[in-house]
Amino acid sequence: MTRKLSSEVKLERVGKRYGEVRAVREVSLTILPGEFFTLLGPSGCGKTTLLRLIAGFASLDSGRILLDGEPIDHVPPWKRNVGLVFQHGALWPHLSVYENVAFGLRERKIPPAELASRVAAALSLVGLEGFERRRPSQLSGGQQQRVALARTLAIQPRLLLLDEPLSNLDAQLRAQMRLELARLQRELAITTIYVTHDQAEALALSHRVAVFQDGAVVQEGTPEEIYWRPRNRFVAEFVGAANLVPAQVMELRETGVLVEAGTSIRLPVPADPARWRTGARALLCLRPEALRLEEAAIGRGTGFFATVAGRVFEGDRHIYEVRTGEGSLLRVEMPALGAARIFRLGDRVRVEFSAETVVLLPDG
Ligand SMILES: Nc1ncnc2c1ncn2[C@@H]1O[C@H](COP(=O)(O)OP(=O)(O)OP(=O)(O)O)[C@@H](O)[C@H]1O
Ligand SMILES: [Mg+2]
Repeated sequence: MTRKLSSEVKLERVGKRYGEVRAVREVSLTILPGEFFTLLGPSGCGKTTLLRLIAGFASLDSGRILLDGEPIDHVPPWKRNVGLVFQHGALWPHLSVYENVAFGLRERKIPPAELASRVAAALSLVGLEGFERRRPSQLSGGQQQRVALARTLAIQPRLLLLDEPLSNLDAQLRAQMRLELARLQRELAITTIYVTHDQAEALALSHRVAVFQDGAVVQEGTPEEIYWRPRNRFVAEFVGAANLVPAQVMELRETGVLVEAGTSIRLPVPADPARWRTGARALLCLRPEALRLEEAAIGRGTGFFATVAGRVFEGDRHIYEVRTGEGSLLRVEMPALGAARIFRLGDRVRVEFSAETVVLLPDG
């Protein structure tokens, strides 16, 4: 189990149809050895289909998949040595934890001594020593998912595919398992492709993320790039909360563009001037936690005036809703520190932010 397991996966214009449905469309991705790579997207966007294609449980209609440079399209699933963990662990209910983990090893005719040590190593990796004789029905949901993971790790796959493995756990257990998964993946350095529709999970776990929409990749990048430099409205809204304000490009400058939104907002934005033209319609994307409220009489920084329209206290933060002069409602999140000023409904405020946190998106 100390062996470093890592392969490179390359998808070249991979496509898959089910009748009229184009489940996966022209997907090209390279996943590096040892990388934790996440496919993030809403229900039905083709995530599971793509994992099934990589595992060999479904066949491609177009394109190809290479594992360490070798095309695997004609390699049957059992020869790919790829481990797939499903959303619902699908453990054998009549077998003990030990036998569940040993199952794949027996199929592979691993000699008894090695089998026993590999089962023990896999159970220890997921923290389930001492549970060998239990049945799945005698385990919690989180423990069952750990058995499913141990069963897959025991076969020492060159690639680990995880299809929403935490989605049927409660919030607290999910958060804990998320940390454990991240630790395990870093320790084993096994190339991992993780599927989820939960953006927080994707950002927390991944080296890189590919955001999917309707079977195609919309954007690929590090969690920071995806969050702070979304390419379009879909990514901005799917990955976290986003305030989108209609705006217009007024001037192209050397290092950015000057935009205007209504009569109250006029500011330079760090966008690539080569991608915009004067007069173009755009959307300003303002992340709620990048905004802060000041008293209208005091605020002087980059920003605009607004009126407080709502406030919710969440213990560690206040969530405000403010109405701009143009009538749009924006969400503002401020840490609730002891001395922080609390604004009330109807207060006139200035909404301030630093221009670097603003993203200019194509309108539509
Ligand atoms: N075996 C199949 N036969 C016909 N259509 C299918 C089949 N499998 C998937 N599809 C369709 O392909 C599309 C992608 O499905 P897929 O299961 O890959 O989505 P997903 O991103 O995993 O969604 P979820 O988050 O709900 O699991 C959907 O429109 C689905 O209905
Ligand atoms: Mg799925």
